[in-house]
Amino acid sequence: MDCLGLFILLMLQCFQWTTAPAAEEVSWTYTGLVGQSEWSQYFPDCGGTSQSPVDVVTTQTKYDPSLIPLTPLGYSQHGNKPFTMYNNGHTAVIELPDWMGLGGLPWLFTAVQMHLHWGSGGPSPGGGEHTINGLSADAELHVVHYNSELYPNMSTAMTQSDGLAVLGVLIVTAEETNPAFNNILNYLSRIRHADQKVSIPAFDIQSLLPKDLGRYYRYNGSLTTPPCYQSVMWTLFNERIQISKAQLLKMETILYSSKANDPDRMLLQDNYRATQPINHRVAFASFSAESGKALSSGEVTAVVIGVMCGCVGLAVIIRFIVKTIRSTSSWDVLPSNRPAHMSRMKEPEKEKEKKQDMALNPTSEAETKEEPSPSPHTEL
Ligand SMILES: *[C@@H]1O[C@H](CO)[C@@H](O)[C@H](O)[C@H]1NC(C)=O
Ligand SMILES: *[C@@H]1O[C@H](CO)[C@@H](O)[C@H](O)[C@H]1NC(C)=O
Repeated sequence: MDCLGLFILLMLQCFQWTTAPAAEEVSWTYTGLVGQSEWSQYFPDCGGTSQSPVDVVTTQTKYDPSLIPLTPLGYSQHGNKPFTMYNNGHTAVIELPDWMGLGGLPWLFTAVQMHLHWGSGGPSPGGGEHTINGLSADAELHVVHYNSELYPNMSTAMTQSDGLAVLGVLIVTAEETNPAFNNILNYLSRIRHADQKVSIPAFDIQSLLPKDLGRYYRYNGSLTTPPCYQSVMWTLFNERIQISKAQLLKMETILYSSKANDPDRMLLQDNYRATQPINHRVAFASFSAESGKALSSGEVTAVVIGVMCGCVGLAVIIRFIVKTIRSTSSWDVLPSNRPAHMSRMKEPEKEKEKKQDMALNPTSEAETKEEPSPSPHTEL
């Protein structure tokens, strides 16, 4: 590998001196000699200011009511023609028929392909590319479309700022098997090595997507692999989909990034890019935290009971404080001479009032804080 790496580096030096188009020939990886941090040396766009993936910080997203639910076109009418799936050394790619598309965007977009990103299991978190509030998923599905209203094909569209629309679906593990994913996973053993290809029975692509297509984040970004063109209108769904641990394990351990004739077998793992700076960009949300999150009656009851208990508790504490002040004041007063009594009694009386006021103000503050404002975490 080291020899190969050195060879690549030498080749790159040569190409840099001669002509630029060598970039397509560079065999990039996620770690190592032409790893993520080196990508921009060979693919300048990877060093741009609108790169993907990003961490979506929900408190910094902007609600945009014009973001309507997306409509997958023809995702479920797959017909009888099989799909082609191949291992490109970086992921498993499934080619999609051109009558599949996406509505609900400013232009009509035509489906091209979909692919996955994943981790390597074990204790290290990650596998998904986008994160929400710093939280990473176990894997991520990308469904890639090009703007077929403005451009003739994918290769032309992918270099244009309004050329692509990609759906990002975060995948996490749960107990149950997700049968839709077996339409892909069952055939991975046929493309274990890079450049291998297999025909798989057509299936309902929409079954891979979350049920809720109305709640998503939208931002302008890039391809998450070289050449990292900044041409993608991203849609990251808020709802995560679930697959079983066994399904994730299969995805993570079955493919090689090396070719069949390569004596050094390299597992295809951790094929996800680190999140990139958001810079000047704004991520828009199709939903607002306040109106979108309807509390269930159970939650409302819990909040009401909580607030009531809090009030009762505070009242008890205030009563206790007041009583204590009263008793201590009479203790103070006792040894003193009678004539001073009246004036000295007035003082603590005033203090009591003051203390009650002070104790009451934080109460009302605490009450407003207990208002059912949904935290961004409940959105996950
Ligand atoms: C894409 O369209 C452009 C412009 O019409 C054309 O030159 C190019 O050959 C097409 N590429 C593919 C892969 O079809
Ligand atoms: C993306 O960029 C285009 C063109 O600059 C702009 O009109 C659009 O509002 C941007 N979209 C988002 C989600 O930022």
